[in-house]
Amino acid sequence: MPDQDAPLATIAAIGRYEGQSVRLQGWLYNLRESGKLLFPIFRDGTGTIQGVAHVKSVPSHVFDALKGLTQESSVMVRGRVRADKRAPGGYELDVEDLEVVQRVPESDPYPITLKEHGVDFLMEHRHLWVRTPRQAAILRIRAEIMRAAAEYFDANGYIRTDPPILTPAACEGTSTLFPVDYFGDPAYLTQSGQLYVESTALALGKVYSFGPTFRAEKSKTRRHLTEFWMIEPEVAFMDLDGLMELAENFLAHIVASVLRNRAAELETIGRGQEKLKTIVRPFPRLRYDEAVEMLNQAHRDGHLEAPFAYGNDFGSPDETWLSGQYDRPVMVHRYPANVKAFYMEPDPKDPRYALCVDVLAPEGYGEIIGGSQRAASLELLESRIREHKLPMEAFQWYLDLRRYGSVPHSGFGMGIERAVAWICGLDHVRETIPFARTLHRMYP
Ligand code: 4AD
Ligand code: MG
Repeated sequence: MPDQDAPLATIAAIGRYEGQSVRLQGWLYNLRESGKLLFPIFRDGTGTIQGVAHVKSVPSHVFDALKGLTQESSVMVRGRVRADKRAPGGYELDVEDLEVVQRVPESDPYPITLKEHGVDFLMEHRHLWVRTPRQAAILRIRAEIMRAAAEYFDANGYIRTDPPILTPAACEGTSTLFPVDYFGDPAYLTQSGQLYVESTALALGKVYSFGPTFRAEKSKTRRHLTEFWMIEPEVAFMDLDGLMELAENFLAHIVASVLRNRAAELETIGRGQEKLKTIVRPFPRLRYDEAVEMLNQAHRDGHLEAPFAYGNDFGSPDETWLSGQYDRPVMVHRYPANVKAFYMEPDPKDPRYALCVDVLAPEGYGEIIGGSQRAASLELLESRIREHKLPMEAFQWYLDLRRYGSVPHSGFGMGIERAVAWICGLDHVRETIPFARTLHRMYP
């Protein structure tokens, strides 16, 4: 048993113990053997460190336990911390003692080796894949993005109000609802907390929700999950201009926090900081019509295959191209009302347009935020609900918000996984969440 008197350290903070003996608890990430010298690499969840064990400098039972030890065996180690400029974290560990907690049997070795594996294989072993330094770094950055996102609202007077996940009606169209049998009545997994935070915004002023949302998306794109996390602010008396300003400040805060607190992880995943350092306000703003003009020009110049059909929502290639034109997020506002959700306020200057905004992340990442000013008039909302063939009965409570003290109000939703994909520079959202749910994957 490694000496209990030595302090228990983490690899991330091991520099504090230079020259001392410490204990580590973790796993054997890799082992290089060269005759009388063993070079184990340990990981403990906070980082990795290389150890050194010479046959003459460690007790023979320690050398024997380490020699041939299998990848991902769990261990407790004692060793002396030595600064080494060539080591990735700046330190190495001269092993003194070691106890194997569980030895992975040779007959059933850890399935993820250090060689290349296909994505399907890795997703099938996601419960183990999260141990690799790259995946662990992405999850740390994800956690920082979620922390900073909530922090922004908490620090600016927003109250977190949690909407239900089981809901009686659609928020974002009826084609992507997951039905649930609710004691014999139909119910659905929520697509967005929006309708409920509209209610709490009229009670508390400035609110946000942060939780899982669901879309029965039949699409297999690199941007779509069936279960994802959304953070949604909603503010009474805020208009579309105020909302765009909020989106700008919010995104700038998140990126600055990642740069400040997760520089080492960005380095681990090979994400350069230059592309993130440009994410400062103001962000460019474009009307939908101007964006369409750019897309048509891009088509004439041969950058886009198809001409853009005015009046449609943007497809992935359009968003990819548009967002690739800027070094920071671009805010596209005032889409034609008929391609957007039923709850959006029409532009008083021209009611064919909705007072809405989509924020497209740079480098071709496409939409990360969708939001709008909300329709404030009871009559208008009722006719929208009818046009969209939504069940009027289920929306009576929502219509009450327009009956009793209706005010202009606005909000948006940011999908965490899309934000993580962009900030980490990943080409697929499946690596941005611990266990991705997609059209063809429910395991593990
Ligand atoms: O644009 P969406 O559909 O907007 C809403 O749901 C509004 N009710 C939000 C609001 O105003 N409070 O979704 C918002 C964001 C998108 O911009 C995207 O980042 C993410 O949620 N999103 C998805 N992320 C991963 N997979 C999917 N299938 C997603 N659908 C939307
Ligand atoms: Mg959207």
